[in-house]
Amino acid sequence: MMRRGLMVGACAAALSLALSGAARAAEPARPWMDPKLSPDARADLVLKQLTFDEQIGLLHGQFPVFMGAKKPAHVQQSAGWIPGVPRLGIPDLTESDASLGVANAGRKDDDATPLPSGVALAATWDAKTAFASGAMIGKQARQKGFNTLLAGGVNLLRDPRNGRNFEYLGEDPLLAGTLSGATIRGIQSNHIVSTSKHFALNDQETGRMVLDAIIDEAAFRESDLLAFEIAIESGQPGSVMCAYNRVGGTYACENPFLLTKVLRDDWKWPGWTMSDWGAVHGVNAAVAGLDQESGQQLDKQVFFDAPLKAAVAKGEVSKDRVREMTHRYLRSLFAVGVFDHPVKAGGLNTKADALVAQRAEEQAIVLLKNERGLLPLAARARQIAVIGGHADVGVVSGGGSSQVIPLGSVTFPKPKGAPTWGGGQVYHPSAPLAAIQARAGGGKVAFNDGADHAAAAALAHNADVVVLFVTQWSTEGMDISMSLPDGQDGLVSAVTAANPNTIVVLETAGPVLMPWRDKAGAIVEAWFPGARGGEAIARVLFGEVNPQGRLPATFPASEAQLARPVLPGADQGVVEGFGAANPQPFEVRYPEGSDIGYRAYARSGQTPLYPFGYGLSYTGFKYAGLKVAGGKTLTATFTVTNTGKAAGTDTPQVYLTSGPKRHQQRLIGWSKVTLKPGESRTVTVAAPQRMLANWADHGWKVDAGAYQVAVGPNAATASLKGSAKVAAGTLKP
Ligand code: BGC
Repeated sequence: MMRRGLMVGACAAALSLALSGAARAAEPARPWMDPKLSPDARADLVLKQLTFDEQIGLLHGQFPVFMGAKKPAHVQQSAGWIPGVPRLGIPDLTESDASLGVANAGRKDDDATPLPSGVALAATWDAKTAFASGAMIGKQARQKGFNTLLAGGVNLLRDPRNGRNFEYLGEDPLLAGTLSGATIRGIQSNHIVSTSKHFALNDQETGRMVLDAIIDEAAFRESDLLAFEIAIESGQPGSVMCAYNRVGGTYACENPFLLTKVLRDDWKWPGWTMSDWGAVHGVNAAVAGLDQESGQQLDKQVFFDAPLKAAVAKGEVSKDRVREMTHRYLRSLFAVGVFDHPVKAGGLNTKADALVAQRAEEQAIVLLKNERGLLPLAARARQIAVIGGHADVGVVSGGGSSQVIPLGSVTFPKPKGAPTWGGGQVYHPSAPLAAIQARAGGGKVAFNDGADHAAAAALAHNADVVVLFVTQWSTEGMDISMSLPDGQDGLVSAVTAANPNTIVVLETAGPVLMPWRDKAGAIVEAWFPGARGGEAIARVLFGEVNPQGRLPATFPASEAQLARPVLPGADQGVVEGFGAANPQPFEVRYPEGSDIGYRAYARSGQTPLYPFGYGLSYTGFKYAGLKVAGGKTLTATFTVTNTGKAAGTDTPQVYLTSGPKRHQQRLIGWSKVTLKPGESRTVTVAAPQRMLANWADHGWKVDAGAYQVAVGPNAATASLKGSAKVAAGTLKP
């Protein structure tokens, strides 16, 4: 009987094996690999096969830098690694920082290509350049074996002293959001996930782990959130990274308003949220809408491992929520193409890639002042004194997690008070001095490092023209002063007194004070210039490239003009630290609301040092014939003429100056036009309807009535004015 029973059992097993074999033959082994299915359907198919433990395994990630001997050999020293599930073909998540290129994270002999800083990219006002920059670093990510870039910082420049402004895209939500979206698209065109970060209001580094950003919802929606909204809508990043700080009393990474209400319910964004490294404080983050804990070694516990399982067992977090977290993650990997296009290291061509960085920098450099036609420098015999800024070595770059250290870089010690991690002051190996020498023709070029002001002044005195470099290093984890460090203001004063034909080249993180402005013959803002930045600067100085950058942030005349003249938390001593000696929690209030930068100056009538949108050219431009059409939105049509003797590129800007109800000055569009001398072109700029709306009654509302528009070369100069009637409208949040 027993034997028979066994026999029957064996036959049944054999039959079922045969059937499942037949079924398998009829169906692909991994049905989720069918690219014709939607990312959601594909994610659901994988989820069916994943055990609960496997799901949990995908929801928290290692910081390989801290893995020590436990780091498997195939895992790179980088920001993040989350093992996949090989039996189902789920790839590892291999994450690198990349605000400005594939970051090094301490890898030796790396050869990634650094882009100019984010604020430089914003100064191009050019979405095509943003796309090309993103595409270049996305390609390098693939060539270096990373499938996810922690790029896409779009926090607004609320304070010029924020130490990470160089990673971001300036003070205006439309400009920042548009360029961020284009960068994300460029990165993801390589099937590499891009991130949008740091969500939200991580607008200063001082106390970033503890501060509580307080802002009313309408102001928030119309400013910092709007920049993210535009970036996420136009870029569709696979992931969004929540910030360290609190927002309205609750940590950003456990904030249901940000993670669930805004991102998911209102914006309908389908991707996955990852935490910043060390930003998770408990399992409740999962309930609030956080999908993945990153850099787990920096949190007090690996909350999304055993504690999350325990919370599920206790019914505090549902199994469905865990499935949803996993779904959102897998869905993005399918949507971006990570499953279908596995990364394979190799094939880097840094020479070609460096040209992408150089072209971006050439468009980013802003000519702020040019007296007596000092610029462009003609390539003829003369004495040129080049002074300061380590111009004999290279160009300065920003520190912290985004640091790219290409081969040949030179590192100087960091200033006192800088974070203990994140390296020193890295100068990228593109020396402006060499690039100037190469163009000086028969001219004599002499260099002085600027350390001894008297010696620098003596060299300047004997030169026909002086190119004086000043630099301002900045890093994640620390805020900065708006004054140039290391006595460089004194150096500029000494040199300009010795020779008024001094061209000051600024390599700064963002806006700085210029007590010597009236004495300088010319001023050029080169930001953090990136790979071949020295070449880009020299090409602009010698007129091979006509400067065309426009300021993406107001340059204040003094700290007293800032919304918060004293930086909140500045009295706390300790600025940053991962769970270590942090300052007491403190509030940062935003009385300016959504009147950031130029909007605040328009309201108060104060005059900044240089307005938002400002930038000169070696030629001149004139605007005429403004026609404004109304209806659902505003459309401005006008003519731009090149009135000078050189070909050049202009960026006419269209601002809303008033509307039927509450309206501050707002950038609603711009155009970039390249014109030959004497050439005219008619341009049309249509405002996105949302830029006419105010946040009211839980949505965007366009009030019916007359709207005034100004067209000008910057936020403070209205060359043409017009108005039109706009119809009432409501837009989804
Ligand atoms: C930064 C993030 C970065 C992460 C990983 C954090 O300190 O705030 O921007 O992506 O580290 O390196």
